[in-house]
Amino acid sequence: MSKRVLVTGGAGFIGSHFVDYLLQTYPDYQVVVLDALTYAGRLENLAEAQKSPRFQFIKGDVRDREAVRDALQGVHYVVHFAAETHVDRSILNPDAFITTDVYGTYVMLESARELGVERFVHVSTDEVYGSAEAGEFHEDAPLRPNSPYSASKAGADLLVRAYYQTYHLPLLTVRPSNTFGPRQYPEKLIPFFVTRALNDQSLPLYGDGQQVRDWLYVGDHVRAIDRVLHHGQGGKAYNIAGGNERTNIEITRKILHLLGKPETLIQFVADRPGHDRRYALDTTRIQGELGWRPEANFDQALTQTVQWYVDNPTWWQTILHEQAEYRDFVARWYNRSG
Ligand code: TYD
Repeated sequence: MSKRVLVTGGAGFIGSHFVDYLLQTYPDYQVVVLDALTYAGRLENLAEAQKSPRFQFIKGDVRDREAVRDALQGVHYVVHFAAETHVDRSILNPDAFITTDVYGTYVMLESARELGVERFVHVSTDEVYGSAEAGEFHEDAPLRPNSPYSASKAGADLLVRAYYQTYHLPLLTVRPSNTFGPRQYPEKLIPFFVTRALNDQSLPLYGDGQQVRDWLYVGDHVRAIDRVLHHGQGGKAYNIAGGNERTNIEITRKILHLLGKPETLIQFVADRPGHDRRYALDTTRIQGELGWRPEANFDQALTQTVQWYVDNPTWWQTILHEQAEYRDFVARWYNRSG
């Protein structure tokens, strides 16, 4: 059946993959993207979608009630990706995290309440649970965020919960683990290190490099959101993870190996303040209730991702040029070199 889907933050990394997936998978769906095109939102990420007559792009901010109300006209489903997401940026300047992630989500919820929608998926993060020294977090684990970023996402999650309990809106939350794939902005570990290594620049590994993340390929991520959007139970949160726990040093070595670059590029630098040691999720709920499973083979997916950056230098060189000033600032702030 034909549906009109609003994807906020659809010009970003995961949002744009989700848009491509929707247009390919559901030939009757209309897809509207609302995106403020801040530094991480890029129109070129929507090049494929722009070719479709079923696609519409609206430049606008989730903090802007008028823009959100306009974008929501005639919409059945909402998938809310729009957020500030980089932990290091949140440590340097938390302001945009509070206004976009918390207040922006409030505007989305309030507008959905006013106009009415059939389904609304809020895209959160595994980081809201805090660091998992041992074991895995279930969806009902307490939220114990440790960075301004994860605290802002936890604030948004709690608003979603409250809007479900209070107003009975058809709300769902997903909490995915660290995601990777083509078009990820080169400030996150994998694309940052791949692009640095391609330029023969040092790779600043925080602390001892033994921190653990559970890596999820973007293709598996968007399939999981699709399952939750269409089949998830209202009011619930669903963890999503790839089942690929790796230390940062392992990831770094793999990247260097794939690119044929020397390990001497690795530079151990001061640790990130409040650095979460490990993220780990229990994914029984989404696997049991919705039949989702990660399908990507981690090594193959990493190889393909690295190859995408090798093949698309224009995409990331433009960005590196734009963010040179920011990286300098970070390097000085953490007293790092490179
Ligand atoms: P990141 O991609 O920023 O995601 P998150 O902090 O949300 O998990 O970082 C992934 C891991 O890599 C995290 O433990 C921090 C580490 N890291 C570095 O060691 N050096 C870097 O330059 C970056 C960007 C991350």
